[in-house]
Amino acid sequence: MGQLPVHSKGDGASAWIARFASTTKPGGAVLDLACGGGRHGRLFLENRHPVCFLDINLGGVADLAGQPGTELVQADLEGGAPWPLPGRRFAAIVVTNYLWRPLFPAIFGALESGGLEPGGLLLYETFMRGNERFGKPSNPDFLLAEDELLDLCRPHCQVIAFEQGEEAAPKPAMRQRIAARHK
Ligand SMILES: C[S@@+](CC[C@H](N)C(=O)[O-])C[C@H]1O[C@@H](n2cnc3c(N)ncnc32)[C@H](O)[C@@H]1O
Repeated sequence: MGQLPVHSKGDGASAWIARFASTTKPGGAVLDLACGGGRHGRLFLENRHPVCFLDINLGGVADLAGQPGTELVQADLEGGAPWPLPGRRFAAIVVTNYLWRPLFPAIFGALESGGLEPGGLLLYETFMRGNERFGKPSNPDFLLAEDELLDLCRPHCQVIAFEQGEEAAPKPAMRQRIAARHK
């Protein structure tokens, strides 16, 4: 595994997400899953996509309440409750710095309960095994295995781009990223 190029941008958005955001269907609905401060959903809002911001704690996106094209959904994704957006299909789903493996069937629409629409784009980026050398997250439950995103996406998606490995900036970390289009 080689050293990855720098993937953070001055505005806080991941350059990986920014790179592929423009390939989302124009005007298509976007889900920023475990959105935190919503740095990626905000990027899509600027690009005229309606955005659903979902998190257990919506404090980071409270300023967006009532803004046109903005939906805020408070939900605990790990509490065993059903997928909180039943039947909703998205032109793009963005997940960064968050991993909860039971969500993958919902993202890929395997439950027929929502998730990516046909042709929809999954942009996923988070930490992988080996990151424990650098700090947190270090719990293997929250670290992707080698090639894990690739293996998860291949049966459902056309993989557009994938990379994994060690990166030096903004701080040393082991990360994995994928951009994939639902078949
Ligand atoms: C490291 S932050 C990443 C935020 C954002 N995706 C980003 O990269 O800027 C992880 C996010 O996951 C959310 N989260 C953690 N547990 C959650 C749960 N059980 N259900 C929904 N969201 C959760 C946290 O509230 C937090 O906003």
